[in-house]
Amino acid sequence: MSSELLTVAMPKGRIFEEAVELLREAGYDLPPEFDDSRKLIIEVPQSGMQFILAKPMDVPTYVEHGVADVGVAGKDVMIEEERDVYEVLDLKISSCYMAVAALPTYSPGRDVAPKVASKYPKLTSDYFREQGEQVEIIKLNGSIELAPIVGLADRIVDIVSTGQTLRENGLVEIETMMPITSRFIVNPVSYRTKAAQIDDMVDRLSVVVNKENA
Ligand code: PRP
Repeated sequence: MSSELLTVAMPKGRIFEEAVELLREAGYDLPPEFDDSRKLIIEVPQSGMQFILAKPMDVPTYVEHGVADVGVAGKDVMIEEERDVYEVLDLKISSCYMAVAALPTYSPGRDVAPKVASKYPKLTSDYFREQGEQVEIIKLNGSIELAPIVGLADRIVDIVSTGQTLRENGLVEIETMMPITSRFIVNPVSYRTKAAQIDDMVDRLSVVVNKENA
């Protein structure tokens, strides 16, 4: 990979489309490959950029290690991963929130060490420690809503966007934890060595974010 180009780590999946749209609105001429491709590295030399398409949870890892200069990562991922990167701008896209959910029949205080399933073990552990409640955390990689239904855990900690997944699986939200949006993150060394390029990108994105949230 060329280090001359500014390398941007993008999260594949849900956030991707919104992030691409935001970049296009910010004036980046992204090729059609962005809309329909399995490629993991896409070069856009005319913009002096290349994009790497990573799993959302891995974006801060690529940026921390400097193989990507900048990236787009959810606040959920930032809290969970605690990577050594700068969080420079709230892009205010992919807005959702983190919540505790359970079956409607759930009642607190039945178990000594109640089980909570989540894709976010650290965030979950920190949250319940702050609440002064001891729980056993069961780490899953997706389809978290399955856990209470099949009896793997009493409660889950997960992202709620439209609420459809909870509803369709007969779960109810019992605590709202924190709002989540996507962030623009920067590798600290790149912020010095590629300052002009990165500042320009932050400026362009800020204009779009401010315009859309005015
Ligand atoms: C996320 C999240 C919830 C769902 C919430 O899962 O973990 O399951 O979306 O969205 P909703 O409130 O609009 O229904 P995702 O689809 O990303 O896949 P996963 O279950 O594999 O994590």
